[in-house]
Amino acid sequence: MVNEKIRIRGLELRGRIAMPPMATEKSKDGRITPEMVEYYAARAKNPELGLIITEHSYVDIRGKASPFQVSVASDDCVEGFAALADAVHREGARIFVQINHAGGRAREEVTGSEALSASAVQFSRGTPSEGRSETGSARALSAGEILELEERFVQAALRAEKAGCDGVEVHAAHGYLLNQFYSPLVNRRDDEYGAQSVENRIRFACETVAKIRAAAGDGFAIAVRLGGCDYTEGGSTIEDAAEASVLLEKAGADLIDITGGMNGYIIRGVDEPGWFAPMSAAVKKAVSVPVMVTGGVTTVAQAERILEDGAADIVGIARALLKDPVLR
Ligand SMILES: Cc1cc2nc3c(=O)[nH]c(=O)nc-3n(C[C@H](O)[C@H](O)[C@H](O)COP(=O)(O)O)c2cc1C
Repeated sequence: MVNEKIRIRGLELRGRIAMPPMATEKSKDGRITPEMVEYYAARAKNPELGLIITEHSYVDIRGKASPFQVSVASDDCVEGFAALADAVHREGARIFVQINHAGGRAREEVTGSEALSASAVQFSRGTPSEGRSETGSARALSAGEILELEERFVQAALRAEKAGCDGVEVHAAHGYLLNQFYSPLVNRRDDEYGAQSVENRIRFACETVAKIRAAAGDGFAIAVRLGGCDYTEGGSTIEDAAEASVLLEKAGADLIDITGGMNGYIIRGVDEPGWFAPMSAAVKKAVSVPVMVTGGVTTVAQAERILEDGAADIVGIARALLKDPVLR
């Protein structure tokens, strides 16, 4: 099953394991380095690995999450991504670029400007790899500014396409900007992007997907990493994730990649491999595009079990691949 081919849009993947995005914090001036190309190519050698989704790359300097994050915010990034796409393709895997805006989690000392979000609330900041945690406030975006940022996501996607990558993944998880709109823990708005309904909370992500679909070539795939559930009282729920996924599919998403919301990529107190599988199973029942799930899977056999259970079509293995390029 792990070696069964699968199609995302028109693209054939040779296997059903994916390497999910993991920030390496190794870019130089936001550019992909030869060392990073080597790192990804070594992982692409696994025959079961159908897809690599790159570490999150910022679409706009105001959404830069950390000092050594990769940029996809200007045309001079294309060359680096082209070298990366070539190396991954040579090994037989597909490559999507994860595109992100950190929103209220961005720090002024990194971006040089105030943090922006759905609402003016307090945020914890810093990335896991930096080992930082601090709080700060953000300014709520106007509807006009949301449209401008959607355009930044589109331009970023077109750069990934120009570089020869197979698709993009719109990051709407782990407490970053699009997740801040989706989560009722953060979204206090009362406009069409507001907290009153899932449709409103996922509107920014849906409009972004639809605009990328309209601008990119027909063969270019669009994934969305959805932080579907916050696992917190008053936060988003698994039912919300299913409803949002249906809307994302309608907007043009070709893959729904399920992970956590404001809780991040773990669920406190749960260590069963595939801890988001109950959510991905609910999403899989609601949509017809492929569904991916990541969280706690360290071996091919564990991935196989999740696929056999029908809880997902693709399984992500992250930290195990970070430690060891060879799948076990
Ligand atoms: C060092 C590190 C960096 C990460 N960076 C990203 C990222 O850039 N984008 C993202 O969506 N998830 C990121 N994640 C989350 C992983 O993609 C994955 O969801 C998480 O590690 C859980 O999967 P695992 O148990 O297989 O490691 C990161 C995780 C780690 C450990």
